[in-house]
Amino acid sequence: MNRDRFPGLADGWARLDGAAGSQVLDSVIEAMSDFMRSGSMANHGGAFKQAIATDELVASTRAACATLLGGDPEGIFFGPSFTATTMRFSATVVRDLEPGDEIVCTRLDHDSNVRPWVIAAERAGVTVRFAEPVEGTLELPASAVEAVLSERTKWVAVTAASNAVGTVPDLPGIVAAAHAVGAKVYIDAVHATPHRRYDLATLGADVLACSAYKWFGPHVSVLCASPELLSAYHPDKLNPAPDEAPDRWELGTLPFESLAGVRAAAEYMLELDFDAVRAHEEGLMAQALDGLRAMDHVTLYGDAADRAPTLMFTVAGVHPDAVAKALAEREISVWNGNYYAWELERVLGLAPHGGIRAGFLHYNDASDTERLLAAVAELGDRG
Ligand SMILES: Cc1ncc(COP(=O)(O)O)c(C=O)c1O
Repeated sequence: MNRDRFPGLADGWARLDGAAGSQVLDSVIEAMSDFMRSGSMANHGGAFKQAIATDELVASTRAACATLLGGDPEGIFFGPSFTATTMRFSATVVRDLEPGDEIVCTRLDHDSNVRPWVIAAERAGVTVRFAEPVEGTLELPASAVEAVLSERTKWVAVTAASNAVGTVPDLPGIVAAAHAVGAKVYIDAVHATPHRRYDLATLGADVLACSAYKWFGPHVSVLCASPELLSAYHPDKLNPAPDEAPDRWELGTLPFESLAGVRAAAEYMLELDFDAVRAHEEGLMAQALDGLRAMDHVTLYGDAADRAPTLMFTVAGVHPDAVAKALAEREISVWNGNYYAWELERVLGLAPHGGIRAGFLHYNDASDTERLLAAVAELGDRG
């Protein structure tokens, strides 16, 4: 779908590395360069025309992201990455916790939604308890989180979709269980957002955070929470920096040229027909899974009933690094290693070399899947 909107696809490679960063949309590239050429490159908060234009850019980008994520523009906080944002968020909110309080993380999550909580918890004398994915399917039902919830749980940090095996956890069930014990829920929607529309209000979660470079934009993270929640906490900040939320969460000068790109990417996301996106991506995923399952030399990981179009496998007798290099020789880009799903790599007994991840975005097509299957089939002779 919409392949001609992505100039980066013109070189003919089969880009199955979108889970590590998508190709950039044409209107995003134009919006960023238009902004930099325009003369509006001024800091915000000034009295002159160009500074006022920058204020308007920030406000309209917050508004577009709020519409996309089902929140309020005053609850949108931009950062350099989900990792940096989560480090800042967790370090700030644990200050309100007491020794003996608990935080729940999962062994399905990317490490950026685990380690920041573990580091902050250690400093505060707070305990981190882990929800375990179901062996085999790697699903994360509400019961997996309920098993480690207690009256002391204050935060639950959970992914909206695994960046390694695609599992979509039972978020409504997890949010309900967490709220039943008075805990807040912090959702990592980085992997999930290019595949489905997420809405903070409908989910009923407390925080939903993602990164625009996974949805065809530049490298900027977007955190969405209620303005009241962001106003309730006091992150470290400089004296002259704004005292109000969301601005007080943002360190230093925002990357305005990138915000122009985020706004264009959000506008594209708001126009996308996500039912069509999902049907297209699931078709590619089914084609890939059927082909790989038929190969005796391939082991697939995870089989969740609900999953994003991202699969993980190993090839018998061939190091994941060698698999990725062999595919690269055929101009197929996949990722090898643990893709920072560090806990999951250990659950699966695959450390330190991990596996291979291939993921589909709406701009992939059946030829990408066919090339992947043909190249992996050839590796059967190497094992
Ligand atoms: C599920 C998930 N969470 C978090 C991250 C980290 O995001 P960032 O690179 O913005 O820190 C990634 C990146 O791949 C991811 O896939």
